[in-house]
Amino acid sequence: KENIYILGIESSCDDTSAAVLCNDRILSNVVADQRIHAEYGGVVPELASRAHQQNIVPVVHQALEKANITKEQLSAIAFTRGPGLMGSLLVGTSFAKSLAYGLGIPLIDVNHMQAHILAHFIDEDNHKKPLFPFLALTISGGHTQIVKVSHHFEMEVLGETIDDAVGEAYDKSGKVLGLGYPAGPEIDRRAQLGNPKAYKFTKPKVDGLKFSFSGLKTGILYFVQRETKANPNFVEENLNDICASIQYTIIGILMDKLKLAVKQTGIKHIAIGGGVSANSGIRKALKDAENKHGWTTYIPKFEYTTDNAAMIAIVGYLKYLKKDFSYFDVMATARLKI
Ligand code: KG4
Ligand code: ZN
Repeated sequence: KENIYILGIESSCDDTSAAVLCNDRILSNVVADQRIHAEYGGVVPELASRAHQQNIVPVVHQALEKANITKEQLSAIAFTRGPGLMGSLLVGTSFAKSLAYGLGIPLIDVNHMQAHILAHFIDEDNHKKPLFPFLALTISGGHTQIVKVSHHFEMEVLGETIDDAVGEAYDKSGKVLGLGYPAGPEIDRRAQLGNPKAYKFTKPKVDGLKFSFSGLKTGILYFVQRETKANPNFVEENLNDICASIQYTIIGILMDKLKLAVKQTGIKHIAIGGGVSANSGIRKALKDAENKHGWTTYIPKFEYTTDNAAMIAIVGYLKYLKKDFSYFDVMATARLKI
């Protein structure tokens, strides 16, 4: 059987990424993250699209070179159509169209949120692929969703955030604590050195499988303001404990909702995806739930958690098998739904 080579392109937010897949195996996965945003404490859309334009050709070139194939060997080009920042999406979309058109090969549009889930179908040593049906918890800087996945492209959002995403809760709490952007990894690192029960933050009260994180963010802000008034060095002196307590609260919220989703659906196979699935706390909580509740959990390899093109390429491969190709007038869609 002939090998299928897919080039995946991801440019939805602040990472420019290109990956090459041979069937469902990754040959290369190159990510250029944009350090420029750290200075501003968050992603600046205008700067992000400019950086994508600067990075896209070198990143694609590197991905092909690392994969040791030429562009003429490619079977199809897969790209992120949305959701994401419009200016960023336009760069990847236009580039993917031009390249596919030039090479005379199929173009495949990919939903970024589906890709965070379907990254689990990349063939990796020591990684089991999820069995259908399973529940996916997708947690990133832009999204927080619980999705019922009946088949690769049969997905139903059971619940999502009504305000901030969980990654935003991490990043905004980090800002209050004077940490750099993105703060998620730093809070996670410090959380492992602190006492998770040192401080108590209120969990939001939202119905069913909906999430809310904006109240928590404000709660943390007021807490820090109050304590700093009493002791100006409060944050410095207790940073690890504060981080541990924030992480404990957030993981508690996520696990409560997952338990409810399992109860409602009877599905005990759980996969996680998105930038926050790199978090040590959620990984540990899921492992514990395997023993405690009899769940089967699927935790992605580290490099497939934050935004990357390998996950776009695997969706491209799965769609290629179905001959589910895009028309060349397909448009980037900032609010694309699953
Ligand atoms: O999926 P992603 O790369 O981009 C979006 O699509 O949003 O996710 C980025 C988010 C950021 O908010 C970042 O702080 C968070 O993922 N993140 C983490 C960790 N690593 C990245 N949050 C908590 N713990 C981590 N270890
Ligand atoms: Zn993402």
